[in-house]
Amino acid sequence: MARGNAALSRWVVEQAAAHHEPPVSRVAELGPGPGVGLEALLAQFPDSQVWGIDRSSVMLSQSRKRNRAAVTAGRLTLLEGGVPALGASAPADIVMANHVLYFWPDPTAELAELRSFLRPGGLLALGYQLRQNMPAMAQKRFPAAGHRLYEAEDDVTTVAVAAGFGSVLHLVKGSAEAPEGRVMLATA
Ligand SMILES: C[S@@+](CC[C@H](N)C(=O)[O-])C[C@H]1O[C@@H](n2cnc3c(N)ncnc32)[C@H](O)[C@@H]1O
Repeated sequence: MARGNAALSRWVVEQAAAHHEPPVSRVAELGPGPGVGLEALLAQFPDSQVWGIDRSSVMLSQSRKRNRAAVTAGRLTLLEGGVPALGASAPADIVMANHVLYFWPDPTAELAELRSFLRPGGLLALGYQLRQNMPAMAQKRFPAAGHRLYEAEDDVTTVAVAAGFGSVLHLVKGSAEAPEGRVMLATA
């Protein structure tokens, strides 16, 4: 699972880069966990300032360990918090959040606030997996813990559009029969 997450994080960064016009000077990741996505963002956008925001101090310390050189160089800022802490990166060119969507009790409100920190035309890259493509344990455990899983791309689009995003595009990593993950790219 951890390895699968890492591959998805790197793939989402590639998709964000391919679907966004340079220059990209301010980039943030919400919920970076172990920091693989931050590492990929730092490599993909070498001229950018990068922010990593996670509500877990344990996860932030993993992100810091993995990306210590960038923190020391002042290129990467790590902050403890949720969507409101993304304000530090505003006006962001790109905000990425992989496998975070499920944890938001009110995803429309969270995405609307996130959008306010993107510059006009800025890109949201939301990596996720549909319920039916998740491991059986995750399908059982997530809803039991009060988290929301999504059954169709349209369900994720509905939330993004209600939050004010436009130009919504979904891409699948891997085959349609056995997707390794998805990304929704949407414009502020
Ligand atoms: C399932 S992990 C995914 C980590 C990483 N993005 C990946 O794909 O490997 C979810 C991460 O998001 C963080 N997280 C969950 N809800 C959050 C929220 N509302 N605000 C900030 N971080 C959150 C968790 O602490 C955790 O680090």
